[in-house]
Amino acid sequence: MDSSDPLKVSRRELLIAGAAASAATLPTAADAATQAPVPPRQRSVPASRVALEVNGTTHTLDLDNRTTLLDALREHLHLTGTKKGCDHGQCGACTVLVDGVRINSCLTLALMHHNGKVTTIEGLGTPARLHPLQAAFIKHDGYQCGYCTPGQICSAVGALDELGRGVPSHVSADLTAQPVFSAEELRERMSGNICRCGAYSNIVDAISEVAGVRT
Ligand code: FES
Ligand code: FES
Repeated sequence: MDSSDPLKVSRRELLIAGAAASAATLPTAADAATQAPVPPRQRSVPASRVALEVNGTTHTLDLDNRTTLLDALREHLHLTGTKKGCDHGQCGACTVLVDGVRINSCLTLALMHHNGKVTTIEGLGTPARLHPLQAAFIKHDGYQCGYCTPGQICSAVGALDELGRGVPSHVSADLTAQPVFSAEELRERMSGNICRCGAYSNIVDAISEVAGVRT
């Protein structure tokens, strides 16, 4: 080392200086004992009061704004007929009718339907007085495990309503004409409802019977 140059520092001197600086900033055991624990940051959960008319009965719920309609029905109102399959909008098991239109209840927030009218499978019929589609699914054996069935039936109600109102589908030949009921139209309109048991042909038979069509 050239000690004549005041700006030149040996590697050893540099290491000693660094260690001393670090030690000066480290908390001591006494420091740690006197420091109060930092409380976790308080998170406020945004919540809203939501009114839903479900199967003819009005419910007022205080919900986390992030609550899906599916979870509001199943977890808050204990209407477990509506099923959670994928929770990602891919299987249709959660299909319900909102203001008469079928939707995937896992893909929408309950808050978005404040003052809306929701119909679930429990509201379509009762064991003593089945909805025609419920009766037809039983007659035609339109299910095996039954997990997809509530969504299939609610979706079929919506699909037949859309056909009746002249709403075209992806396979309608003429978008301006009243669509004609056919197995192809029905399969297209029901394509968002997956049946892992593969009861599709019987489901088509059941819905066709209610539509008054032979397949
Ligand atoms: Fe909603 Fe599958 S649970 S689409
Ligand atoms: Fe089992 Fe459709 S009846 S998934």
